[in-house]
Amino acid sequence: MENFTFYSPTYFVFGKGEENKAGELVKKFGGSRVLVVYGGGSAVKSGLLGRVTDSLKGAGIESFSLGGVKPNPRSGLVYEGIDICRKENVDFVLAVGGGSVIDTSKAIAAGAVYDGDFWDFYMGKRITEALPVGTILTISAAGSEGSPDSVITKEEGMFKRGASGDAIRPAFSILNPELTQSLPPYQTACGITDIMAHLMERYMTNSSDVQTTDRMIEGLLLAMIEEGPKAVANPDDYEARANIMWAGMMAHNNSCGVGRSQDWNSHNIEHELSALYDCAHGAGLAVTFPAYLSFAYKHDVARVAQFARRVWGCPEELDDEEAALMGIESLREFFTSIGMPSTIGEFGGTEADIDKLANVACYGDGRDGKLYGFVELSEDDVKEIYRRML
Ligand code: NZQ
Ligand code: ZN
Repeated sequence: MENFTFYSPTYFVFGKGEENKAGELVKKFGGSRVLVVYGGGSAVKSGLLGRVTDSLKGAGIESFSLGGVKPNPRSGLVYEGIDICRKENVDFVLAVGGGSVIDTSKAIAAGAVYDGDFWDFYMGKRITEALPVGTILTISAAGSEGSPDSVITKEEGMFKRGASGDAIRPAFSILNPELTQSLPPYQTACGITDIMAHLMERYMTNSSDVQTTDRMIEGLLLAMIEEGPKAVANPDDYEARANIMWAGMMAHNNSCGVGRSQDWNSHNIEHELSALYDCAHGAGLAVTFPAYLSFAYKHDVARVAQFARRVWGCPEELDDEEAALMGIESLREFFTSIGMPSTIGEFGGTEADIDKLANVACYGDGRDGKLYGFVELSEDDVKEIYRRML
């Protein structure tokens, strides 16, 4: 196991009705003038936004609002949010929604106290200062409610890039599984896929002697394989929703990723799919992960075989190569069984897109021509992986 530091100061409040504590919690974490950020309407329609605003009012907190965050959130709204924060002396940003809303809120929070262009952080500058952010999560997926990360798409060039820093870990996150019951099966499945991908990106490691985190990841994946289909089949299954919601947080606050190298090639390859086709991030990952693993497993057949045996129950008597391939197939079948796509054709993609996808993934916005993860990938390797998605 490698040396690590782990700092995860988010205050989690989990369970039915807890969003009504929003005002109390903002106050507890020092907010008095709040920017409430939300998405395209689900939080308005469900009445959640109204309950949150009432709770803030009840606690004597002044609030301003910024709606309209789109999935695969864009830089334009971030600039708008930064302007509001500066003009209104906002001291706290409250995200009501999913990963896109939370990531927009984090970008606004960092940009509002930074003299330069907030995009500097998405070009690699670490975020060391930001307004405090709180979240009220409405979809279990990205794990942004407990992570130090934010992913934004820059409109000029449609570059989708991430920024990080402990300063943008949420001060608090309210997790009420009931709020996710309005998600349609497709969105639910996208979330489950993303959660599983966050676990697998950590599982595919070049570090040795990492039994504790291996076993944590395997346990969470097994829970997703059991609980995921229940929530897809019955959106009102509170207990399945609750298990998925906590797994989504655990998958990405890095408690399962400490002390080991991590992969993230699939996320980097997927980000170009959601940037080009505007598909859901989880759907893009369902297409990417099996294609990537079918290319990369030879790098460490024993590790992929371990994943296949422990997570997918592949028989012990198979040799490592057979087990690894069977595991990758089981993963693909699981994604298909919950309604996820398996080819880029399902997003309207064709062979003609491959050169562009690979070029942007490898060179876009300052990259040096390679992707570095479990395996090092050249532009030709990345093209081959995209080809396996046709
Ligand atoms: O905008 P509204 O109307 O709210 O609709 C949203 C949106 O259309 C809808 N939705 C959310 N909660 C709902 C609901 N519909 C009905 N009932 C509810 N309770 O779901 C759609 C997707 O929302 P979005 O926030 O985009 O989903 P998700 O949480 O999957 O976030 C995806 C974004 O997170 C990034 C992705 O790249 C993508 O841009 N990621 C962020 C990470 C991080 N910050 O740590 C890590 C991830 O790997 C990921 O890259
Ligand atoms: Zn993800």
